[in-house]
Amino acid sequence: MVFETVGVVGLGTMGAGIAEVFARAGIRVVGVEADQEALDRGLGHLEASTGRALEKGRLSAGEREEILSRVTLTTSRDDLRDADLVVEAIPEVMEYKVALFTDLDRICKPSAVLATNTSSLQVTALAAATGRPGRVVGMHFFNPAPVMGLVEVVGTVVTEPGVVTSVSDLAVRLGKTPVAVGDRAGFVVNRLLLPYLNHAVTLLDHGVAARDDIDNAMRLGVGLPMGPFSLLDLIGLDTSYEIMGVLFEESRSERHVPSPLLRSYVAAGWLGRKSGRGFYGEPAAESTPEKAAASTVRVEGSQELAATLAAAGFKDPAEPDVVLRVGEAALGERVVQVRVTGKVAELSGSVLTSRQAVLCARDLLRVAGYTPVPCRRSVIDALLYAHLNDAVHMYSSGYASIADIDAAMRLGCGYPQGPFELMESIGLAKVRDGLRALYAEHLSPSFAPAPLLDQLVTAGLDAFPRA
Ligand code: 3HC
Repeated sequence: MVFETVGVVGLGTMGAGIAEVFARAGIRVVGVEADQEALDRGLGHLEASTGRALEKGRLSAGEREEILSRVTLTTSRDDLRDADLVVEAIPEVMEYKVALFTDLDRICKPSAVLATNTSSLQVTALAAATGRPGRVVGMHFFNPAPVMGLVEVVGTVVTEPGVVTSVSDLAVRLGKTPVAVGDRAGFVVNRLLLPYLNHAVTLLDHGVAARDDIDNAMRLGVGLPMGPFSLLDLIGLDTSYEIMGVLFEESRSERHVPSPLLRSYVAAGWLGRKSGRGFYGEPAAESTPEKAAASTVRVEGSQELAATLAAAGFKDPAEPDVVLRVGEAALGERVVQVRVTGKVAELSGSVLTSRQAVLCARDLLRVAGYTPVPCRRSVIDALLYAHLNDAVHMYSSGYASIADIDAAMRLGCGYPQGPFELMESIGLAKVRDGLRALYAEHLSPSFAPAPLLDQLVTAGLDAFPRA
């Protein structure tokens, strides 16, 4: 299969990014929008994105001109008659997509492949709406499309042999890494990513920690490129809510129940970056930050932390203002439990701990160079371990290989390591034991260690089996 002319229908953020990716790879692009106003907006996206690359010296003026000249913009779908491939990136409404695919099937030459960038709808249903179900696939890009290195290529039970391979080869030509997957809700990335993001919203809703603290914990503690709330704002809260709904519809699992807080934000029209307000973007609060008095401190359970605080100038008298307890919790008015992950220090008080002690702990840890994350219980453990556990379940179900899951999360979401690589660097036993502790506390199936993880630890192994 030769792909020399590609159509992109829908030039919103994703569609315009996808058109840019094709044009950058030297492929002619026909970009289609519903009306002139939408077309102008699409052109605006393309010009802004390539303009930024020009400013940063990543493209020369000549290269930028060439890229833009490869893109023809039109409001007529009939202009797709010569396309070898059409990628659809219109809103996630099944009726619109079915109508579009029926139209494309009539307009495009019989050899053309029709692809959808859907993140939540069933590709098989779109294939079945055409007279060429064998040539309909998913081609799922990640936001921002010009930057993220992954394309999920979704084949269905009716896809003709060779089509997934040809589209995967095309993704390589675009400079992306393809991962071929079956038509299951959320594919690989959204099925792992969205439950984790939704879980973060639940923690916020339950008052476990504040928005910025949760974002800091995952960004600075775990090393993810964005915290869950910044990422939800980037993806769009409506899109995220829809994906959760589709996951729940398919799995009926507690892990996939969409958060009521997410639903409220969507109902309020707070959709993230696209609407100017999501989890971020609300008017600044006018409260004055609470201040703690200068403090003295004792550290129990970590010589390293004790040494860092001593080096930062904090004294340890007989009656310190605050006791930082690393490891098992202990009760007391001045006792604050601390968990250090990288440069993040999660702080939780017990029912007896005074507000003043928590504020002291926060301030002195900040002075000592940590990012304090006040929380009712560890945000990192809950979010990360459940997320990693999902990856083990996905592999165990036979849906995707360990290598594909790791590559998908690294390239699709910018993770420094894939979930399996991350579990191996943390230590499988630590992850399994962390999950067990969370399960004992919450009795939620999300935290019950996946049998494979449990078995590997029981067998004394510290790595996952790879082919
Ligand atoms: N369009 C084009 N280029 C962009 C861009 C955009 N919207 N946003 C950033 N870039 C480019 C910048 O120009 C810069 O390029 P340069 O190296 O040539 O200068 C590069 O990306 C890095 O950008 P910045 O330095 O401004 O910012 P960061 O280093 O913070 O990186 C990020 C930004 C790449 C978005 C990074 O934070 C990241 O990887 N975040 C995770 C994003 C993610 O998870 N996406 C997947 C979401 S799920 C999805 O899309 C599926 C859907 O179905 C829901």
